[in-house]
Amino acid sequence: MTRISRRRALALGGAGIAAVIAGAAGWVATDGPTARAGGQVPGGSTDEELARPAELVGRDGRLDVELVAAAGVRIAGRETRALGFNGSSPGPTLRVRPGDELAVRMTNHLDQPTNLHTHGLRVSPQGDGDNPFVRIEPGASFDYRFRVPAHHPPGTQWYHPHHHGMVADQLFGGLAGALLVDGGPALPVADDRVLLVTDITLDPDGSVAAVGAMDRMQGREGDLVLVNGQHRPVVPATAGHAQRWRIVNACTSRVFMLRVEGHPLARIAQDGTFLPAPVTDGQAVLAPGNRMDVVVSPVVAGRFRLILDPVDRGNGMMAGSRSGEPVTLATLVVDGPAASAPALPATLPAEPAVAPATARRSTTFQMGMGGPMGGGGQARMTIDGRPFDPDRDDQVVAAGTVEEWTVLNSGPLAHPFHLHIWPFTVVAASDGRPTTGVPQDVVLVPAGGWVRVRIAFTTHTGRSVYHCHILDHEDAGMMATVVVR
Ligand code: C2O
Ligand code: CU
Ligand code: CU
Repeated sequence: MTRISRRRALALGGAGIAAVIAGAAGWVATDGPTARAGGQVPGGSTDEELARPAELVGRDGRLDVELVAAAGVRIAGRETRALGFNGSSPGPTLRVRPGDELAVRMTNHLDQPTNLHTHGLRVSPQGDGDNPFVRIEPGASFDYRFRVPAHHPPGTQWYHPHHHGMVADQLFGGLAGALLVDGGPALPVADDRVLLVTDITLDPDGSVAAVGAMDRMQGREGDLVLVNGQHRPVVPATAGHAQRWRIVNACTSRVFMLRVEGHPLARIAQDGTFLPAPVTDGQAVLAPGNRMDVVVSPVVAGRFRLILDPVDRGNGMMAGSRSGEPVTLATLVVDGPAASAPALPATLPAEPAVAPATARRSTTFQMGMGGPMGGGGQARMTIDGRPFDPDRDDQVVAAGTVEEWTVLNSGPLAHPFHLHIWPFTVVAASDGRPTTGVPQDVVLVPAGGWVRVRIAFTTHTGRSVYHCHILDHEDAGMMATVVVR
């Protein structure tokens, strides 16, 4: 009932809005010192339980779904003009199995073109597959068919729009959802949850805030950090019962490290494939686009915050990490008598190492200024000196080969390198970070540094893209094509 009246009040417009919003109980709090004046009303934790997005589950080898992208979803406990799929942000969780066909009728009820990308699915990029060159006009639909290979690893993937020039606005607006490939070993966990993290800035009238040139250059970070569309919800747990959390960094630009007070997290998978064994070294950095599956094992009753620690994603004055302070994402609320959780398996079904490379190439992400610094000048975002051109073939690869790519970053901000369809294994990085030996699909290339990756172009042929997953950079041109034939 309050939902309807609030929605009506929003529709009425005018001076009534601020009063109605201010009167809504416990909804929006600021997340950092940089929150926009007038955009928030101070509030606390709502103690709302972490929502489970609706699940659409495949049967008999297929999953047929309809996704409608449109404005008007509930965010952080209020009705807004933010964007969602089928009326919610995040959209439904799609669950398939290796060998399934996922058929998606995507309908565009936005006022601009869009399309759909299944980030992490190793499927064909051609035709009605995971084709980033598809353009769905407002009011139109497109029928996608994603054929998940029978040998696809089980894990946590996600989906979001990918229409060049509008990706950041549409993701920041709320268009994202989880896509799980089921299977894998039975783990001793009592619960299995998606934690899809987004950030957004809302104006007092509930519309998504406009983003300025400086934010687009650095990569925008929203004032509100949400998990499953909620602000600081509660994750209930029982001592002695472990939980698997599938964390998706669906933020447009934010890089974070997740920790839980008093609880070492056991990482079991990254970017949708298992690690060789659980790792509890505390290094859980997620760049935009990354996923990480962790097991948390509560042992005593209490309240423990899930904290996103900021990661400096630049150097010097260009450090774009405006969230200079840790952000509370949610609270783990544990009850029951003290008990320890069952041990995790000592080994996990990681994929075998990729064969050595037989070809090498390098590619450089560049960010330059086309005008005076901070004076409204347009940043120039390029790969190998050229802004994205969907009609140009940038990298032509012989199907079936394994290549080693050195991705260089000449600039003052870290850029998350992302390649569609063909995951890669990190071989080395200029900052000397440890490598995992298993595939991933987003890796942070340090400011002024490089990352070397090994890519097996053995699964699919076709034409797709690689780009910076700071989606403001991608929209501004930091994307290139790759053709495998
Ligand atoms: Cu998650 Cu090309 O994108
Ligand atoms: Cu992708
Ligand atoms: Cu970038």
